[in-house]
Amino acid sequence: MGFAYNFLKSPRQIGAVCPSSHYLASALVKAALSEAEGLIVDLGAGTGVVTGKLLEYGVPSHSIVAVERCSTFAAGFQRKYPGVLALEADACRLTSLLQQFRPDVPVRAVISSLPFCTLPPDIRREVSAQIATVLRQRGGLLIQYSYAWWMHFPLRRYGFAPRQRYFVFRNVPPAIVEVYSLP
Ligand SMILES: C[S@@+](CC[C@H](N)C(=O)[O-])C[C@H]1O[C@@H](n2cnc3c(N)ncnc32)[C@H](O)[C@@H]1O
Repeated sequence: MGFAYNFLKSPRQIGAVCPSSHYLASALVKAALSEAEGLIVDLGAGTGVVTGKLLEYGVPSHSIVAVERCSTFAAGFQRKYPGVLALEADACRLTSLLQQFRPDVPVRAVISSLPFCTLPPDIRREVSAQIATVLRQRGGLLIQYSYAWWMHFPLRRYGFAPRQRYFVFRNVPPAIVEVYSLP
């Protein structure tokens, strides 16, 4: 099933009408590669554009973990990238998933495509808490994009410290990439 179909079924969870552009994926990946070695988590992996770009930039498949809740996207992802650990799971379980499948490995970055602005507030709080626990225990950056460019580092309210901000115009719609760390 196509991206737009999944969006129509669950607009608040999918949060976009089409996959991220290669320009947006490149901006996310370049931000992640500014950190030292470690695991990269593709959170809300969707159709796998971000993972595809990570592989293109030379990140080994064993250093990537993709987490995606939608079963059709997760199945499509697994067919496309059989060498990457793809978990059909909720980001609200991120800490225990990593502990189960990749224990004790430092984290380079969590690249989140989750539609934070449209997720229900309780999910938003839980996912933020999970990401914060991962970063506290294993290091790394949180890289989040959104289309709400007028909101300036909204994830500050969950305890993340702003680092950098980039506009990516060549995406539908244009996006803002925000990089955070834990203070
Ligand atoms: C904007 S789309 C991702 C687009 C992706 N970068 C691509 O180009 O295909 C957001 C994704 O987050 C996933 N998602 C939303 N809430 C989630 C959750 N709680 N846990 C895991 N994935 C979730 C959706 O199913 C959707 O695939």
